[in-house]
Amino acid sequence: MGERQADDPPPYYTAHVFVCCNRRPDGHPKGSCAARGSEKLRDYMKVRAKEMGLRSVRVNSAGCLDRCEHGPCLVIYPEGVWYRIDTPAAVDKVLERHIRDGGRVPELLLPPETRGQSLA
Ligand code: FES
Repeated sequence: MGERQADDPPPYYTAHVFVCCNRRPDGHPKGSCAARGSEKLRDYMKVRAKEMGLRSVRVNSAGCLDRCEHGPCLVIYPEGVWYRIDTPAAVDKVLERHIRDGGRVPELLLPPETRGQSLA
């Protein structure tokens, strides 16, 4: 794993957003992001990104991102920054502060204890 190399082709997108849209059956102990509304939030994010004129941003649906208890969640690459987006207002914050302005939205970051859980 590593850094981009000098002869890598340029990335297609400045920000590539993956929104978990995994859906588990009702009553599953882990729950799922789609059951918490992620599909509508993904759709909202796509529309808002366009309305805001954000270029070089791609919002994609993803399968389970393995942070189910913290969903609905998304991850933005190439930074690899993860957010919980439970409302349209949260989506707006991510679009405005992270993607448009290049900052972060600390109050929406996934909790630190979720880091590295899949690396063990
Ligand atoms: S269901 Fe969304 S991270 Fe697993």
